Amino acid sequence: STVKRGCDHIFFVGFLGAGKSTLARNLGRMFHRRFVDTDRLVERKCGQTVSQIFEAEGEQRFRTLETEALESLASERSLLVSCGGGVVETPRNIELIHEMGFCVYLEGDIDDSLRQIRRSDTRPDFRSAEHAARLLEHRRPLYESAADLTVDIRGTSFTEVSYTVAELL
Ligand code: S3P
Repeated sequence: STVKRGCDHIFFVGFLGAGKSTLARNLGRMFHRRFVDTDRLVERKCGQTVSQIFEAEGEQRFRTLETEALESLASERSLLVSCGGGVVETPRNIELIHEMGFCVYLEGDIDDSLRQIRRSDTRPDFRSAEHAARLLEHRRPLYESAADLTVDIRGTSFTEVSYTVAELL
């Protein structure tokens, strides 16, 4: 059974390309729970895209805005929250997630992530496969430490993953 904490949110973490937003958005529709994406919250607040923020002000500035976006969710209830892939880089974010709800780690595969990254414009420096692979290895234990539940999404259909997570709702 689900650990209910704080605001009763469910947070999705995992590497870029794991399908966090798609899953959270769909579950939100099915279960009439509101869905938010921390990248979109940051973009809305700044009026800039994530990549513009990275370029103009650097990653550290983006990380600060990301933490502020999470903090802003403390006044809400029962959200499904898709987190940016780097959310676990900031220890405070992991604390905030645990204070406000339950954390699901979508554990994927580097090859699937790379395929997704090649199609995305969100972070130019991810385009190097070596960089992305190193980053994923660095983050794996961080995702694990944040997770209340790890869902192995390798070779698993979107429907199956949805059912697994839907049991929490
Ligand atoms: C990042 C992942 C992106 C976005 C930003 C940084 C990362 O989010 O927050 O480009 O460091 O992995 P998604 O995982 O939602 O693409």
